[in-house]
Amino acid sequence: MGLSEYQGFLGAAYLWVKAAHVTFVIFWIAGLFIVPRYYVHHQAATPGSAEDRAWIEREDKARTIILNPAMLIVWVLGLMLAIHLNLFGTPWFLAKLFLVLILTAYQGWIGSYGRKLANGHRELDDKKLRLMNEVPGIITALIVVLVIVRPF
Ligand code: HEM
Repeated sequence: MGLSEYQGFLGAAYLWVKAAHVTFVIFWIAGLFIVPRYYVHHQAATPGSAEDRAWIEREDKARTIILNPAMLIVWVLGLMLAIHLNLFGTPWFLAKLFLVLILTAYQGWIGSYGRKLANGHRELDDKKLRLMNEVPGIITALIVVLVIVRPF
């Protein structure tokens, strides 16, 4: 790595911020994988049953303790890195930003689907819900190619 990478506003903290960014990315993506998986199990429970209430509580905790804070921290640290490296005109970075917006929108869907389940609605059948479960894995793979391979 060249000396120039230390010369943005983060200075010598740059690699520490990057390490923290990747750590919180792992927490965030773990949450994006687990909560919609909970939904598949939750849907099988009868609305109003004890099992239904247990899923609602688990989902609520996962969203408020893992998903929401992790997403916020990933965004803050990622934008700090982007400012540090001045990446806002760089094609691979803009493509990454677009994919991260899709993940962020996906988290919005997670929240709204959770509210529907909590109200006793099962909007999607199991097959469609399982398809939705594939979204974060696919987007994550594409983001990793963009940041590591930097094809453009
Ligand atoms: C939320 C918005 C995000 C922003 C603004 C952002 C921005 C950045 C920036 C600027 C870097 C530094 C690149 C470098 O040091 O050359 C970085 C590193 C990285 N980001 Fe993100 N990121 C975000 C979300 C994510 C997500 C969701 C993932 C994975 C799914 C991810 C995976 C990575 C990885 C693996 C690295 C390390 C790459 C390397 O060492 O070259 N980021 N990110």
